[in-house]
Amino acid sequence: MDSQPPQARVVSELNANVPLAQPGEFGPLPIGPLSVWPPVVLAPMAGVTNLPFRALCREYGAGLYVSEMITARGFLMGNRLSVLLASSDPSESPRSVQVYGSDPKDLGEMVRALVDQGVDHLDINFGCPVPKVTRSGNGSAIPVKPKLMARLVSAMVKNAGEVPVTVKMRKGIDEQLLTFLDAGRVAQEEGAAAVGLHGRTAAQLYSGEADWDAIGELKATVSIPVLGNGDIWEAWDALRMMRHTGCDGVIVGRGCLGRPWLFRELAQVFAGQEPAAPPTLGEAVDVMVRHAERLVDFFGEAIGMRQMRKWVAWYSKGFHGSAALRGRMAELQRLDQLRPLFAELDLSEPFPAKALRIGRAKGNKQQRVKLPEGFLDNRDDDSPPKGPHTLAEIEAWEQALQGG
Ligand SMILES: Cc1cc2nc3c(=O)[nH]c(=O)nc-3n(C[C@H](O)[C@H](O)[C@H](O)COP(=O)(O)O)c2cc1C
Repeated sequence: MDSQPPQARVVSELNANVPLAQPGEFGPLPIGPLSVWPPVVLAPMAGVTNLPFRALCREYGAGLYVSEMITARGFLMGNRLSVLLASSDPSESPRSVQVYGSDPKDLGEMVRALVDQGVDHLDINFGCPVPKVTRSGNGSAIPVKPKLMARLVSAMVKNAGEVPVTVKMRKGIDEQLLTFLDAGRVAQEEGAAAVGLHGRTAAQLYSGEADWDAIGELKATVSIPVLGNGDIWEAWDALRMMRHTGCDGVIVGRGCLGRPWLFRELAQVFAGQEPAAPPTLGEAVDVMVRHAERLVDFFGEAIGMRQMRKWVAWYSKGFHGSAALRGRMAELQRLDQLRPLFAELDLSEPFPAKALRIGRAKGNKQQRVKLPEGFLDNRDDDSPPKGPHTLAEIEAWEQALQGG
């Protein structure tokens, strides 16, 4: 039999010597009645983790694939996009939805509706750093007020019945106002099934390195399962994060943008196997076309192909000639225009190792977090902050979230 030349391992220097998972080293992630193996969760990402992308990721691996955040008000008012983004199909199991809201009544109502539809997991987002959101005391500002946060988690848990509710949050507003340990305790006391921590403050946005030590501190503080989040760019990072922090599972965000096969690699390293080589450019283009077909099916061609513009940039990141594609992205209006974009590139080009850890979707800026006037004067206040109410406000709000 002809032996193929061995494919060079595509791994960064940082991870070159990380051992594979040993038998019994890691267990399934328990989230209420769910048992998630490998202990890997696709991060909720606005404008990204819609049903088409979740389905594509699921083809490669296993784990829990969470929807992007759905604003409770928008969903309850029947806003078309909110309802579409919260939807699923029978092949999606378990079905997981991230909810956003700051009024316990809205949250309870939305949770009941989703439970009636058969949802298997619910997450609430307390990490959104977008100025439009924090300025009114919403998003990542909520854990600053533990009693308010408690009311919101409790409203979800009480209405969810057997369906597990998890909480996702950041370390705090900034290094002077860290909230994650108190927020972890609140989540636990109010009945959350697990808590996820993105190891950055709202002020940091996506800049610098995620603080994995904070994830370890949270793990040492609560007894419910802890999900670690931040900077899993390679499957090996997940093993390192779990070993470093003792956390029970990982949440994978930007690393899978234009790289849904990362979930295959994750499943392999957790099973103690060497990960399969990532695709060549030609293979990545095939995946991208499948992704586009799914988006067009779900959103229609005009919206689906508009969304594909950012995906083309992510799928082609680091390959030769990818920069030249950027100028042509605006031309992309129909599905049949996608493959020809790549006609002049060398489709046999192997996946470039340097692309593994290039930031995707978010830049490296930081911010001063805007909070409402006097917000810190009474942290015991549990009254819900004002959120969007009319459909026009909801749409403007959702637009801002896509940027967050
Ligand atoms: C494009 C984009 C959209 C995001 N939208 C959401 C969201 O809807 N809900 C949420 O909780 N976090 C959201 N996040 C944050 C991610 O879930 C995750 O916490 C963050 O990207 C850190 O993980 P990473 O370092 O693996 O990317 C978003 C991140 C990105 C890049």
